Amino acid sequence: MLRVVVLVSGGGTNLQAMIDAIKDGRITNAEIVGVFCNNRGAYALERARAAGIDSCCISPRDYKDRQDFNEAFLNRIDEWKPDLVVLAGFLVIIPPKMAKRYAGRMINIHPSLIPSFCGTGYYGLKVHEEALKRGVKITGATVHFVDEGTDTGRIIYQKAVEVKNGDTPEILQRRVMEQAEWIILPKAVNDIANGLISFNGE
Ligand code: GAR
Repeated sequence: MLRVVVLVSGGGTNLQAMIDAIKDGRITNAEIVGVFCNNRGAYALERARAAGIDSCCISPRDYKDRQDFNEAFLNRIDEWKPDLVVLAGFLVIIPPKMAKRYAGRMINIHPSLIPSFCGTGYYGLKVHEEALKRGVKITGATVHFVDEGTDTGRIIYQKAVEVKNGDTPEILQRRVMEQAEWIILPKAVNDIANGLISFNGE
């Protein structure tokens, strides 16, 4: 059984997609052993509770400086002894020490076709606002390994999604989630759990 820890900051629909996929057998040989969150008000925590998954919520604001937070954060993740760490809408920058420790064992879902609309400052709704501003006709989502950069790690899966006339950022965000994110993230976890993708992405 692959031990999966999921890191979240908000609504947690991608977390839910993985919980559902484990329940209905689209993900096999994996269990979510912990959910880490940096935001006490996040609905993702409710989803973890409802699914009976252990969770932990600490915020950088609870610590005197970033270094103290980073240490507590990394220790908490280590305690779950994850084989795979999944960033599912996690908006905290991953400390370099953690990126090194979990190199090849940490993946992220990003709501665009990398290398478009990614990197520092591109997260959540902002990504879709920028895609609409630029007038692209196709967008999508990407699952990739996490390295020390922002959205620079090796790509695992991408799925394209059509942009339609009259889309708002919210409408486009929802379509990208439904047609891409909630499909390729569970698929990546399943494929890693079943040895179809090796941990270093080859
Ligand atoms: C998702 O669209 C995810 O791709 C995005 O945040 C949203 C979280 O939604 N992640 C990023 O932008 C990371 N750069 P969720 O909490 O409902 O899964």
